Amino acid sequence: MEKLIQACIFDLDGVLTETAHLHYSSWKRLAAEWGFDLSPELNKQLKGVSRKASLDLILKWSDKTATDEEKAEMMERKNQWYLEEVDKLTPNDCLPYAIDFLDELDRNNIPYALGSGSKNAKTILAKIGLTQRFKWILDGNDVQIGKPNPKLFIKAAEAMNSDRSKTVVFEDAEAGISAALKGGFLAVSFGRDEEPKRISHFHLNSWEGVSLETVELGLLIEN
Ligand code: BG6
Ligand code: MG
Repeated sequence: MEKLIQACIFDLDGVLTETAHLHYSSWKRLAAEWGFDLSPELNKQLKGVSRKASLDLILKWSDKTATDEEKAEMMERKNQWYLEEVDKLTPNDCLPYAIDFLDELDRNNIPYALGSGSKNAKTILAKIGLTQRFKWILDGNDVQIGKPNPKLFIKAAEAMNSDRSKTVVFEDAEAGISAALKGGFLAVSFGRDEEPKRISHFHLNSWEGVSLETVELGLLIEN
């Protein structure tokens, strides 16, 4: 019988590790410079969204304009603050049981790629000790347009030579699930947020006890 799941694509932030709070505190610190208080609610909309698109949204919400040069300087500063925090990550920051699932994929010869919108993805992967696990790493440096555009995931599927309708994308962000759906992938939402869960094909709260069978059955039953 042909396998339902031929390949997998993993988002990084919120799926294999948790750095959303670090992005949040850095953006909040930046916005505070012009007196804007970035709320947790608004911050949710930044999940999965590229650095540039995130800054544009924050500027729009705070009714502030900036030249391209100023924007570049703002992004650079935010990123420095963010990287100071990323530097403290260790393999203990890999989300619990995620490695068990990767091990199962390896045992079953199912290829998998990283599909992260972050330009810091390789640094983060190294900090949490996952670099060697990924043969294919696609990140924010590989595409011009970020999620919800599906290009990044499409590139990952092309690299693995997998059929998109049999490739599962694991994502914690609404923008990422939208990208997966637009690209014709099987979309599995991950984590606590409600919005991605509403539109995905199947949902996982955590990696605990998750096996290939869990995901295959979930996708079959829910669809
Ligand atoms: C995504 C995060 O993984 O990467 C977003 O969910 C972030 O919040 C985006 O804006 C870009 O990250 P970076 O590291 O390139 O600034
Ligand atoms: Mg994410």
